Amino acid sequence: MSYNRKEIGPYEYIEQFNGNTALMVTMDKKGNCNVMALDWKKITEFKGIPVIRAQVAYSRYTYTLLIEGMNDFTINIPSEKTYHAIDIAGFYSGRNTDKLNKAGLITIPGKNIKVPTIKDCILSYECRIIHSSESNMTSHHYFYGKILTAYASNDIIK
Ligand SMILES: Cc1cc2nc3c(=O)[nH]c(=O)nc-3n(C[C@H](O)[C@H](O)[C@H](O)COP(=O)(O)O)c2cc1C
Repeated sequence: MSYNRKEIGPYEYIEQFNGNTALMVTMDKKGNCNVMALDWKKITEFKGIPVIRAQVAYSRYTYTLLIEGMNDFTINIPSEKTYHAIDIAGFYSGRNTDKLNKAGLITIPGKNIKVPTIKDCILSYECRIIHSSESNMTSHHYFYGKILTAYASNDIIK
């Protein structure tokens, strides 16, 4: 199935990546997924490898999943259709709420990782964590995810 999107290079459409809040999906070892709103993200390089660097607070359930769950995450930039999910993903915690379900989000199985991407997003990235470190804020931690696959919606492809 095409899901109305195409694979792109990691640096394409970066202005839409930079200018928008993301939905970050993580997964526990049993395969349960969680979604969190993420503003502090950057496409950069780590040892010459294209990565997404996500800045996640220690207090988030997402942090626990990044440390104890799958070693992968996906980053999804919502379209108008999925934009409403930011409020739910950024307000509730996956510790006690199934936010994907609450927001009515539909997932697409990963191509190179088990963590799914989200349908109806303008950009999506499958990432494998290759490094993590303390960040410039003591409350937050950096996770560097190697970009394994990147997709852009046909709606934004010129
Ligand atoms: C617009 C928006 C942007 C956010 N950006 C971040 C971020 O960059 N890093 C972070 O740790 N939390 C960020 N948050 C807060 C988390 O999304 C929020 O605490 C969420 O409930 C955590 O969910 P979790 O406990 O399921 O991981 C943001 C929230 C909103 C509404």
